[in-house]
Amino acid sequence: MVIQRGDYRAPSYQIPEIILDLRLDPENTEVLAHLHFRRVAASPVAELPLNGEALELLSLQRDDQVLAEHEYRLTEDGLVLLNPPETFVLKTKVRLHPAANTALSGLYHAGGQFLTQCEAEGFRRITYMLDRPDCLARFTVTLHAPQKHCPVLLANGNCMAMGREAEGWHWARWEDPFPKPTYLFAMVAGDLAVVRDRYRTASGRDVALEIYVAERDTAACVQAMDSLKRAMRWDEEVYGREYDLDRYMIVATDSFNMGAMENKGLNIFNAKYVLASPETATDSDYQGIESVIAHEYFHNWTGNRVTLRDWFQLSLKEGLTVFRDQEFSADQNSRGVQRIGDVRRLRAAQFPEDAGPLAHPVRPEAYSEINNFYTATVYEKGAELIRMIHTLLGKTQFRQGMDLYFQRHDGHAVTIEDFLAAMEAANQRDLSGFRRWYSQAGTPVLRASGSYDPVQHSYTLTLHQETPATPGQSTKEPVPIPVRMALLNTQGQRAPLSGAIEGPDGEAVLLLEQREQSWTFVNLPDPVIPSLLRGFSAPVRLESAWDDEACGFLACYDDDPFNRWESIQNLAVKALLAAVADSSVTPLPAVLRDATASILRDDALDPAFRAELLTLPSEDYIGEQMSVVAVEAIHRARDTLRQDIGARFAEKWMALYHDLAAPYQRDGLAIGRRRLRNLALSHLIASDGDSREAMALHARQQYAQADNMTDRLAAFQLLVQHPHHDAKDILLDFYRKWHGYPLVIDKWFSIQAATPRPETLHQVEHLLVHPAFDWRVPNRVRAVLGGFAANPTVFHAADGSGYAFYAEQIRRLDDINPQTAARLATPLSRWRRYDAQRQQAMRAALTMLADKAKLSRDLAEVIQRSLPVK
Ligand code: ARG
Ligand code: ZN
Repeated sequence: MVIQRGDYRAPSYQIPEIILDLRLDPENTEVLAHLHFRRVAASPVAELPLNGEALELLSLQRDDQVLAEHEYRLTEDGLVLLNPPETFVLKTKVRLHPAANTALSGLYHAGGQFLTQCEAEGFRRITYMLDRPDCLARFTVTLHAPQKHCPVLLANGNCMAMGREAEGWHWARWEDPFPKPTYLFAMVAGDLAVVRDRYRTASGRDVALEIYVAERDTAACVQAMDSLKRAMRWDEEVYGREYDLDRYMIVATDSFNMGAMENKGLNIFNAKYVLASPETATDSDYQGIESVIAHEYFHNWTGNRVTLRDWFQLSLKEGLTVFRDQEFSADQNSRGVQRIGDVRRLRAAQFPEDAGPLAHPVRPEAYSEINNFYTATVYEKGAELIRMIHTLLGKTQFRQGMDLYFQRHDGHAVTIEDFLAAMEAANQRDLSGFRRWYSQAGTPVLRASGSYDPVQHSYTLTLHQETPATPGQSTKEPVPIPVRMALLNTQGQRAPLSGAIEGPDGEAVLLLEQREQSWTFVNLPDPVIPSLLRGFSAPVRLESAWDDEACGFLACYDDDPFNRWESIQNLAVKALLAAVADSSVTPLPAVLRDATASILRDDALDPAFRAELLTLPSEDYIGEQMSVVAVEAIHRARDTLRQDIGARFAEKWMALYHDLAAPYQRDGLAIGRRRLRNLALSHLIASDGDSREAMALHARQQYAQADNMTDRLAAFQLLVQHPHHDAKDILLDFYRKWHGYPLVIDKWFSIQAATPRPETLHQVEHLLVHPAFDWRVPNRVRAVLGGFAANPTVFHAADGSGYAFYAEQIRRLDDINPQTAARLATPLSRWRRYDAQRQQAMRAALTMLADKAKLSRDLAEVIQRSLPVK
């Protein structure tokens, strides 16, 4: 069934209070629910449908009367109450089977623990309920479990009482004072250790901070706890938002479908975003923890206190909260490097989505399975829309808008429209044109051209926009595009802006609202080069008419870090595309060589930024710039470029490799130095000639002696993925050392699956029957299948073997975990981007899946949208 945004109807009843009692058993859990119903519709209703899924109904009473047959009906997806009175208490008792719940949605038992995941629609797998975000209830929850297996019993809010009962069981009662929708409900029971800390809020309230992990992981929570405290402080300082309960709990698990979940006062996390020690986690793992911990914490205001009216509004909380976590990370680290990383992720995931059959607006119009809409578009593009509003209004005005948003809507379930209205009202601004960004899918193409008039001493810039058609939206309107810009003179300094627009410090934001507009700047004695879309001020594809010389200039002199990076990326992409088209062309032309040389020479640059500048665009990103992705040619050209850059600057790379060696530290400078040093190693290993063998020895040494996982893994990956190196001993050694650390073993699996060699397919078949492989653990499945799908030459092997193998695994996974299967299937949707032979093989793989028996709704929707309409 397809749900349409326009079909929203307010509920006819509310359930202000819900009392739950759960007797937890892995095989047979019993859930007793008391729901206090109150009619809010003006007149009586004949039917009141409640959601329920995979529930065994044991008893059903209304106000202590067993319901008669004419008073209810059981359906496919729930329970319908017939002619209900105006107010009543419904008492249900159901049975569920947590250990058999491998979908990991609702209440499940995994790794010896009971856990829940209710967003978006998991609560209906726990009990019959109005499972929709616009029904806010106060929850009282009592958990019962055997004390021995589950000494820890947690739910949202405050623990009111605990006690013992017969046969070694015990119980705990929790009350959450804040009314919340079902998707924010959570409970956890298991044998968990706790790491405690405290936080005092700006107004002086004490909050207990608790991170629940397995006993042996208690030392690995330092980064998580520290990030949490910094996030709490940041939200007070930047948004004036304090935490509102007496305790904040985080639980880590290996069995989780996504990154983490913001359940009120009781976040549940994929262990990947909690656990870290220098020996087991890389620098980027540490950064991931910082941002996800902050993200879930920020949801307490943007998501929980102000929640969603319906799931079409998902970006109201996710786009806004991603924007908040990105800004938090930018304030904690280097803003420029953070922005480059955020844009790289946007382009790697969202741009392709927006250009393919799964394209949808940030506020979708229709869905059949909402879990399929937790996408890069709703999250990352959604965050870019908030960022544009921030750019258009300015920091102070944006904050005023946020204040009004919280003031108006605290405790309510609202819409994206409500958010925009608050932004407008607080600032007397009109954002009506901006709303199109939320309803129109597709990535706008922004074309820029300009010319300098040496007689008038003026520069005229012309911007043009066009959004390509997307499924279901054949014509597109212009959208307002904020273009942050500066004009740089030939010394690389910003020229003062006067004429069309003035900007303090020579920087301004142009707003392109029509299809095409021009701006003329005056009083420019010398020619200038524009630096456009600084900081990537809008989620568009910029095509500028600048020549290589201008790009080379910007790569060396642009004072906007993002744009400087962008310019050298563009040079590299251009060189690579030329080498892809003609393999006799060098992928290292003079401009790129000179720009690389100047960055390599510049020892004063922040090493993290320098590493970004020197990192080559990915094969996927290069492919994105082609109408038909030339899989092998891209791989070859990029490899050649890496070799050439390695060989040409071998001495400099070698010097960096030696000079940057240092004992492990965790500050930003040390992280940047590690990154640059490992980049040097990768170029040296790739380079032809004498240094390669010597470098393989260095890599082996680095692998063996590293005092941290970043360096160890970098060497490990280079050795395992090197085309001429036998690394069997290292694979074995790594496994032996880390087999007790699931997160580390995930890396072991994924690096093998991502190895660009013909025999990888065969090896991955072995990985899938490895004793440590487990179809029920999403991290493990993603490590292997996700690694494989991100391996261009193997996944896209010309004979179609990669697709056929992959589809077979998705088919198998769909019976176990539909959500994860549907997500992993999305790379197959991109078939239109490949040559005829691959297209055919990819479509065959999709068709095979479409014909599967018991196809989940999740996977069915992805496939149906991916295949051409017959
Ligand atoms: N709200 C969570 C977060 O972004 C993610 C939940 C994803 N849920 C899902 N069913 N895919 O923090
Ligand atoms: Zn979120």
